[in-house]
Amino acid sequence: MENLLEVKNLEVSFKTYAGEVKAVRGISFDVKKGECVAIVGESGCGKTVTSKSIMGLIQTPPGIIKEGSEILYNGKDILEFSEKEWQAYRGGECSMIFQDALTALNPTMKIGMQIAENLMIHRGMSKSEALEEAVKMLTLVGIPNADKRINQYPHEFSGGMRQRAMIAIALACNPNMLIADEPTTALDVTIQAQIIDLIKNLQEKLGTAVVLITHDLGVVADLSDRIVVMYAGKVVERGNCNDIFYSPKHPYTWALLRAVPRLDLGNKENLVSIQGTPPDLIAPPKGCGFAMRCTKCMKICHEQEPPVYDFEGEHSTACWLYHPMAPKVDLPYAIGGEE
Ligand SMILES: Nc1ncnc2c1ncn2[C@@H]1O[C@H](COP(=O)(O)OP(=O)(O)OP(=O)(O)O)[C@@H](O)[C@H]1O
Ligand code: SF4
Ligand SMILES: [Mg+2]
Repeated sequence: MENLLEVKNLEVSFKTYAGEVKAVRGISFDVKKGECVAIVGESGCGKTVTSKSIMGLIQTPPGIIKEGSEILYNGKDILEFSEKEWQAYRGGECSMIFQDALTALNPTMKIGMQIAENLMIHRGMSKSEALEEAVKMLTLVGIPNADKRINQYPHEFSGGMRQRAMIAIALACNPNMLIADEPTTALDVTIQAQIIDLIKNLQEKLGTAVVLITHDLGVVADLSDRIVVMYAGKVVERGNCNDIFYSPKHPYTWALLRAVPRLDLGNKENLVSIQGTPPDLIAPPKGCGFAMRCTKCMKICHEQEPPVYDFEGEHSTACWLYHPMAPKVDLPYAIGGEE
C-alpha cells in the first residue's frame, strides 16, 4: 500500500531557561492510506510534540525542528509548504482531535456553526447546505436529535458528546488523515470504549487513515494495524498488534503491557505500574534512555545507544538484549511468557 505520511528522522527541541529540551530525538514512522497507526508511550515521551509537528503547530521559537527532519505527506515535505498548501492541508487533508474537547471547541459559537464554518470555507457550501451537512455529521457520530443540538453551545454538551462533536468537526471535510491525540483520556471508561468504536467505524466507513496517540496500550488493541512504542523522544519498538501484544521485545514494552488487563492472562489483580521516572531530556543519557529503569540493563546500555534489531515482518526494536553476544532472555511470565 502507498504511504500517505512518512516521518523521517524527526527531531524537535524547545529552548527553555534551564536548557534545550530534546523532546523528540530522531523518530521515523509511516502511515499508509486508510490504516490506523498507534503511537504509544507514557507522559512526556513526545507524543503531542510529534502530532503537533505533523499538523504544523509547533511554535518556533521556543520550538526548533532540527535540520534533516522530514515529514512527507503524499511525498511532499510539509516543512516546506507554502501558506496556500498549509491551508489546503490543515483544512481538508489532515485534521486533528485533541485530548480536551472543551479547550479545542469555541465556547461562544454554536456547535452546528463550528462544523458548518469549515464546510463553507473548504468545500464552498452555502450556510444552509453546510448546516444540513452538520446535522448529518452529528448524527453519524452518534449524537441524537442533531437537528436541535446544532443550536447548542459546547457547555451544553456532556464530555463524551463534546468529544463526538470534535470528531464531527475533524471529519466534516472528509480528510485523508485524522490525528487523534489521547482522544479518550478525559472520559470515563464506558464512554472511552464508545469513542474508540466510533473512530474505528468511521475509519472503516470513510477510509480515513488514523494516527492514534495514547499512553494506554489497552486502548489500541482492537483498532490499530501497527503500533509504534515511544520512550523519551525515541521509537523503542514497532510492529503489528500481534508482535506487540504476543511477542514484545523491548523491556519498556513489557512494562507497558504489565499495566494492561488481559482476558487471556486473567491478570486483572496483578497490574503494575512502571517504577522510576523517564530521563531528563535536557541532558539525555548517552546510552539507552530506559537504562535507569530497566531490570535487564547491562554495562553497554549505559555507554552506547542500542542499535535497531529486526524481526519477522516489520517488527523491530532498539535494545542491546538482541545483540548476538547478549545473554538470552525470555518473555516475562507476567505478560504471557513460559514460567
Ligand atoms: N513548549 C514547550 N517548551 C518546553 N518544553 C516542552 C514544550 N512542549 C513540550 N515540551 C516538552 O517536551 C516533552 C514531550 O512533551 P509532549 O507534550 O510531546 O509529551 P506527551 O508524550 O504528549 O505527554 P502526555 O502523555 O503527558 O500528553 C516533555 O518533556 C515536555 O515537557
Ligand atoms: S538497551 Fe539495555 S537498558 Fe535499554 S532496554 Fe535494552 S536491556 Fe534495557
Ligand atoms: Mg500529549
